[in-house]
Amino acid sequence: MNHVAVLDFGSQYTQLIVRRVRELGYFAKLYRPEDLSEIGKPGAIILSGGPKSTADPDAPDLDFEVLKAHQVPVLGVCYGMQLMNLKFGGSVEASDRREYGPAQLIPACKSGLFADMSERSQIWMSHSDTVKNLSADTEVLASNQHGTPVSLGFGNDFYGIQFHPEVTHSHEGNQVLRNFLSLAKDLNEFRIEDMKQELLREIRERVGDRQVVCGVSGGVDSTVLAVLLNEAGVNMRAIFVDHGLMRKDEGEEVRKNFARMGVPIETVDASELFFEKLEGVAEPEKKRDIIGNLFVDVFWDAVGDAELLAQGTLYPDVIESASNEGSKASKIKTHHNRVDRILELQKQGKVLEPLAELFKDEVRELGLALGLDADIVNRHPFPGPGLAVRCPGIVDRKRVRIIQEADAIFIGKLREHGWYDKTWQAYACLIPVKTVGVKGDERSYEWAVGLRAVISEDAMTADWVELPYEILRETSHRILNDVDGVNRVLYDVSTKPPASIEWE
Ligand code: XMP
Repeated sequence: MNHVAVLDFGSQYTQLIVRRVRELGYFAKLYRPEDLSEIGKPGAIILSGGPKSTADPDAPDLDFEVLKAHQVPVLGVCYGMQLMNLKFGGSVEASDRREYGPAQLIPACKSGLFADMSERSQIWMSHSDTVKNLSADTEVLASNQHGTPVSLGFGNDFYGIQFHPEVTHSHEGNQVLRNFLSLAKDLNEFRIEDMKQELLREIRERVGDRQVVCGVSGGVDSTVLAVLLNEAGVNMRAIFVDHGLMRKDEGEEVRKNFARMGVPIETVDASELFFEKLEGVAEPEKKRDIIGNLFVDVFWDAVGDAELLAQGTLYPDVIESASNEGSKASKIKTHHNRVDRILELQKQGKVLEPLAELFKDEVRELGLALGLDADIVNRHPFPGPGLAVRCPGIVDRKRVRIIQEADAIFIGKLREHGWYDKTWQAYACLIPVKTVGVKGDERSYEWAVGLRAVISEDAMTADWVELPYEILRETSHRILNDVDGVNRVLYDVSTKPPASIEWE
């Protein structure tokens, strides 16, 4: 598969470049500049921006002779353009004006990189160095409203832009990328079906006649992973650890779903053990710690001696670890993927991460291509420690049952009214504060339930959803009537930040 190689000079937006290129229908992959020799045969190359100045003693460099030898179009973004200008005989100087934020793009001509674009459009700048002393062969392709060059052409294949086309504040940024990619001669379109076939081939090759083990939680990533392994026809075991902190009937649903998809799973019911260990523990981090460690122990007990372990690591995790640690080794966010045992297996080449080149929405697409129901593919995220983080203070079966009942009612109402897919995540939690009420003719003194529904893109920030009152009214009515131990329902109208999405 012919791809777009994106060389990462450390900009906070690099991952976005990869996303945008993929959204435009081409497969993009990120590389460190020092791994230039490992980029294979790309159809186009993009040099990202970065925090350094080319004047810094430790500024990242690149062998342009190797770049030129590829004979494919190269686009330099910000730092990438400054580096290009240096390599093509120009210079880069610290600017007297730090340019950060919106500016105007005024193309010199509306073809090539700027075909089908407006006379003027907003672009997003984020730099303090600027290009100077352009060589005689360098062509100014566009300027900003002050007449400063913001796009340069260097010979046939090399283009530079001083702005960030990947951020939405660059209003026609996607068009610039589209135009650039259209200059590439041998770029294949990225189709999820091709990706599926390639992954199946790779899995068969890597696994051979060994046995591969994976954990399933009912979440999208691990479900897609297990179905993919099953489809590859390799010798596999899928293990589902039920910690008893799942949503109402979720354990049963997971089992049913896998049975329907024809993927055998082994269930380990460890709920007794989890409730035992959690008894009396109220501190959120301590709860997480206990659950995380116990999960690992129970899972590994079930795994025994693994010949190969498959994990549902996604591309953002790999990229994050690559830029944080200056290493391409993948690091995974969830507790149970990080333990020493896995690192040891990884060293021995016994960890398989077939989804490690995909973004979440691509995993969803792959899931659909594998025949998964949209219901499974579009499930809301659910935290590893489960309902324990929706139960402030101590966790016991009674409290978890209240959350499960209330949550099932709320989620049911969201689905009934067509709001489940419009929210990013929604749930009920317990607010273990007793307040006075009246039930029948008697005074009640019971807990409250909180409802939370948010929209978010990446969980880093979130906004609460303005649900119709009708949904809140019906949900509250049902919870107050049907869930024992509750006499009050509250809707959480807190944004993140400062609140987090979960209550703990
Ligand atoms: P917060 O509460 O930090 O949540 O705003 C952001 C997203 O992460 C999920 N979350 C977790 N997921 N282990 C997980 O696997 C955890 O300990 C954990 N805590 C929060 C949360 O559901 C939301 O989607």
